[in-house]
Amino acid sequence: MLNLFYVSISGNTRAFAKRLGAYADKQHALDPANPQLHAVEYSETVDTSIMDKPFFAMVPTYLDGGDGINNGYKEVMTLDFRDELQAGNTDNLLGIIGSGNRNFNAQFGLTAKHYARRFNSPVIGLFELRGNNEEAAKIYTAMCNYQRDFDKRGVKRALV
Ligand SMILES: Cc1cc2nc3c(=O)[nH]c(=O)nc-3n(C[C@H](O)[C@H](O)[C@H](O)COP(=O)(O)O)c2cc1C
Repeated sequence: MLNLFYVSISGNTRAFAKRLGAYADKQHALDPANPQLHAVEYSETVDTSIMDKPFFAMVPTYLDGGDGINNGYKEVMTLDFRDELQAGNTDNLLGIIGSGNRNFNAQFGLTAKHYARRFNSPVIGLFELRGNNEEAAKIYTAMCNYQRDFDKRGVKRALV
């Protein structure tokens, strides 16, 4: 089982989590060795025990203006999720999946990159808006690889 903890403000990330779950189900039907997806959407009242086991985090990008290079780093909308991750056991955070809108240029998916630094976990994939099947396939494969690596070594792949 792949554990995914995510936040979605306007529904795009939720839609992609569904797509990813459907893709995982299909792969599992083809070969039971392929893991299914257990996805939990963050809310203030959600049971956060998903972070007690190895898990992945998925976060859209909401930044307060700027260009992401000289300014525009201020994260908005996703701060509660960030704090929740911070309070959890980040040794279990195997990887981060980011999303956003490519219209934001250098700021595309920037929050995931910020989380990578903060939690010392790699960005394992990015998708745009609600994502597509190609992005789901790529991200599912990356999650499987990182999960397999953790199962073998018993420790996450950190940045440093
Ligand atoms: C106020 C605001 C700021 C945003 N800033 C960024 C940004 O800096 N970089 C980016 O890639 N996407 C940015 N986006 C786009 C969202 O990340 C994108 O729409 C995402 O799919 C939203 O996910 P959600 O529907 O699950 O909340 C922004 C959207 C809004 C409304």
